[in-house]
Amino acid sequence: MERIRIMLTEEEVDKRIKEIGEQISKDYAGKKIHLICVLKGGVFFMCELAKRISVPVSMDFMSISSYGNSTESSGIIKIIKDLDESITGEEVLVVEDIVDSGRTLNYLLEMLKDRKPASLRLCTLLDKPERRVVEVNVDYTGFQIPDEFVVGYGLDYAQKYRNLPYIGVVEQDEE
Ligand code: IMP
Ligand code: MG
Repeated sequence: MERIRIMLTEEEVDKRIKEIGEQISKDYAGKKIHLICVLKGGVFFMCELAKRISVPVSMDFMSISSYGNSTESSGIIKIIKDLDESITGEEVLVVEDIVDSGRTLNYLLEMLKDRKPASLRLCTLLDKPERRVVEVNVDYTGFQIPDEFVVGYGLDYAQKYRNLPYIGVVEQDEE
């Protein structure tokens, strides 16, 4: 049987998202922000974050798939669903669930940069710095976490547990 050990409680996550939202609102004062959510993992974080941002916000969604198995990304990504709107001239903030090896984000950010946004920043709920293979400049980080496979708040294990309101680690119970 699988069990989930809680790493970050719902209260801790919500409190931190509120803080990041306030920071972003200050940094973008007088501007409007175009949030880009990377589906599906980023969706819970982006919705919570958007509610905590006090400057005007627009949102768009992108779905990418990374080749390779579910726990190790290759970095080569395929666009499953592209953005609906152009980002040229926009203040773009990419919202991600987690930066692990950095391969996916590195590739994605390079691709978005080619579309000439006014600015391009990255906000991630979780960061596993120990796992980094490719350098990625993260502008806003919720939590730096140790090298453990986590689920919840959008993150899945074989498509399960995305809906958990906290961040947890999957553990196998021996029967
Ligand atoms: P990267 O290209 O290695 O940085 O991989 C990033 C992607 O891998 C994330 O957007 C997640 O979809 C997935 N991923 C990395 N670590 C975890 C984890 O601990 N739990 C769930 N998904 C993860
Ligand atoms: Mg992701």
